[in-house]
Amino acid sequence: MTNYNLIDKTPETIRIMFNTISEKYDFMNNIMSFGTHYYVKLKSVQNLNIKANDNIIDLCCGTGDLARIIKNLYPTTNVTGIDFSENMIKIAKNKTAKGKIQYFQGDVTNLPHPDNTFDIVTMGFGLRNIQNAEKAVEEVYRILKPQGYFLHIDFGQNNMQSKIFEKITLFLAKIFTENYFSYDYLIKSKQNFPPPESLIKDFESKGFKFVKRKDYISGIISAQILQK
Ligand SMILES: C[S@@+](CC[C@H](N)C(=O)[O-])C[C@H]1O[C@@H](n2cnc3c(N)ncnc32)[C@H](O)[C@@H]1O
Repeated sequence: MTNYNLIDKTPETIRIMFNTISEKYDFMNNIMSFGTHYYVKLKSVQNLNIKANDNIIDLCCGTGDLARIIKNLYPTTNVTGIDFSENMIKIAKNKTAKGKIQYFQGDVTNLPHPDNTFDIVTMGFGLRNIQNAEKAVEEVYRILKPQGYFLHIDFGQNNMQSKIFEKITLFLAKIFTENYFSYDYLIKSKQNFPPPESLIKDFESKGFKFVKRKDYISGIISAQILQK
C-alpha cells in the first residue's frame, strides 16, 4: 500500500489532536467547506444501495455526520459509530437522529467485531489520519460480509481548486481557532494523501472490487465505493 505517513500520525498524537479541536470541529468543517461537506456525505450515502435491515458501521465517525445521515434516511437500519477520540464521540452522542445509533470508543485498526459482520462500512476523512492505514483497510475487509460495500470519502485531487481550499482553510483557522497547528496538519495530511486512483489500487490490493467513484466540488473531495 502507499505510504501515507510522511508526517507524524502517532495514534496518541492524533487522538489528542481531535480531542482538542472537538468543540469547534463541526463549526470549522462548515465554514471551511461552505457547508458542502454535508452535501457530499449525503450524496455519497444516497449512492449506496442501503436496505431496510442492513447492519452498518461508520469508522472514524467523529461527531457522527455519516452515521446520522444513514439513520435519518434509513431509520430501520442498525447503525454503529466508532472513533478513538472520546470528545468527538461525546458530541456525536449528544445529537439526535431518527432512532438510536450505538457509539463506542475504539481503534479502527483493531476492531472487536467478528469477521463478516456488516453489510456496509463507511469511513469519512479518517484513513488519512491513521498511521497503520493498511491494517485499517484490512479490518474494513474483515468485518464486511461477502458482497458488502465500503464507502470511503476523503480529499481527492491536489489540483488548483484544492490549493485555493488549503489557503482559505489556513486563513480561517488563524481567525477562528486557537489550534492553527491542527489545520496545518490537516493540509499536510491532505497533500500527502494518495489521489483517488492510487487509493482504489490500494483497496484492490486488499481484495476489494471497485464499484464506483464520484468526485465532488471540482475534485477537492472524492468518494469511492468498493465491494468485498
Ligand atoms: C477528520 S475526522 C472525521 C470525522 C467524521 N467521519 C467526519 O467525516 O466528519 C477523523 C476522525 O478519525 C478519528 N480517528 C483517527 N484515527 C483513528 C483510529 N485509529 N481509530 C479510531 N478513530 C480514529 C479521529 O479521532 C477523528 O474523529
